[in-house]
Amino acid sequence: MLIRTKKVSDCLESEVTDESVYLNRRQFMKATGGIALGVGGIGNVAAALQEGNSLTPPPSLASSFQNIIETPYGLDEKVAPFDVATSYNNFYEFGYGKNDPKDKSSEFKTTPWAITVEGEADNTGIFDLDDIIKASMLEERIYRLRCVEAWSMVIPWVGVSLGDVLKRFKPTSKAKYVYFETLYDPQQMPGQKGGGLDWPYREGLRIDEAMNPLALLAVGMYGSVLPNQNGAPVRLVLPWKYGFKSIKSIVKIRFVETMPETTWGTLAPSEYGFYANVNPNVDHPRWTQKQERRLPGGVLFPNVVETKMFNGYEDEVGSLYSGMDLKRFY
Ligand code: MTE
Repeated sequence: MLIRTKKVSDCLESEVTDESVYLNRRQFMKATGGIALGVGGIGNVAAALQEGNSLTPPPSLASSFQNIIETPYGLDEKVAPFDVATSYNNFYEFGYGKNDPKDKSSEFKTTPWAITVEGEADNTGIFDLDDIIKASMLEERIYRLRCVEAWSMVIPWVGVSLGDVLKRFKPTSKAKYVYFETLYDPQQMPGQKGGGLDWPYREGLRIDEAMNPLALLAVGMYGSVLPNQNGAPVRLVLPWKYGFKSIKSIVKIRFVETMPETTWGTLAPSEYGFYANVNPNVDHPRWTQKQERRLPGGVLFPNVVETKMFNGYEDEVGSLYSGMDLKRFY
C-alpha cells in the first residue's frame, strides 16, 4: 500500500472450546516466555503440508491449540510457508518495510489483553480477550489473503466467528456499523512515533458484513498463537476484502449508527474505499487489480494468478452487495 506522503519500498459453540485449553495456552506463554508445551491437534494444516516442515511454527510458538474445529475452507489450496507469512507483512505500527514487523515486534506485550466494547449495544464494557474467545469454538480456516497491493497468500488461521462474538455484546437496532481500533502505544510500536498514518489504525464494517459467517476473529495461525507481526493477540480476517480491512491487535470495538471513518479511507479516499471488496473489475487508480502475485514467488517465477471477484468467495458474500454499484462503492 503506498502512502503518498512517504517513500515506501513496496506496497503495504454445540461443542464449546474447553476454556482451559485456550487459557492454558496463553498463560503458559506468559509464564515461560513462550517455550514449547507439546503438540496437540492442529486441524487441517498437516493435511495441507506440502513443503517439508516449512509450515511448522518455530519452537517459541510450537505449542498448538487443541480441539480446533476443522472447516472445509481452503483444503485444496497450497498454503504459504510459515516463514513467508510471518516475514512479509504489513503492520505499519512496526515500520513500513515488509520485514519491519517481524524485526521490530518481538518485545510487543500481548498478555493480558483487554478489549473495550462501546456504543450501540446492551453489553458494553472492558473485556479480557481470553473471556471473549473462550465462549466460542476455535476453528481453523484456510483463507486466501489478497492485499490491495496485488500480492496474495494462503494462510491457515485459527479463530472464532466474529458474528458469534459480536452478538454476545447485544448490539441494538441502531448498530448499523461496527468500528475497530488497534492499540495506540508508541513506546511499543515505533512506527507510531512518526507520521504517515493517522494513529491509531482504524477500520469498520457494515453490521451485516461483520455478521457474515466468513468473518473471522483470529487468535492464531498455523495451529499456534498469532506471531506479533501478524497482529497478536487478536485481529480480523475478512478474506473477501482487501487485506487492509483485516485490522490487527484490536483493543476497541464500537457499535455505531453511521459509517465510521477508517485509516486508509481518510488518508486517500479516492484509492481506498470503505467496502474494499476484492474486485478485478475495479482497478486501483495507480495499478491493475486484475491479477495478483501469489506468494511465495520470485523474479523468475512470479506466480501470477487471476484475481477473482470477492477473492473467490462470491457464493458466501455476494448477496451482501446485491443491487450495489461496486464501481462507486469500491
Ligand atoms: N492492521 C494494522 N493495525 N496496521 C496495519 O498496518 N495492515 C493491513 C492489515 N492490517 C495493517 C493492519 C494490511 S495492508 C494488510 S495487507 C494485512 O494487515 C496484512 O496482514 P499480514 O501481515 O498478516 O499478511
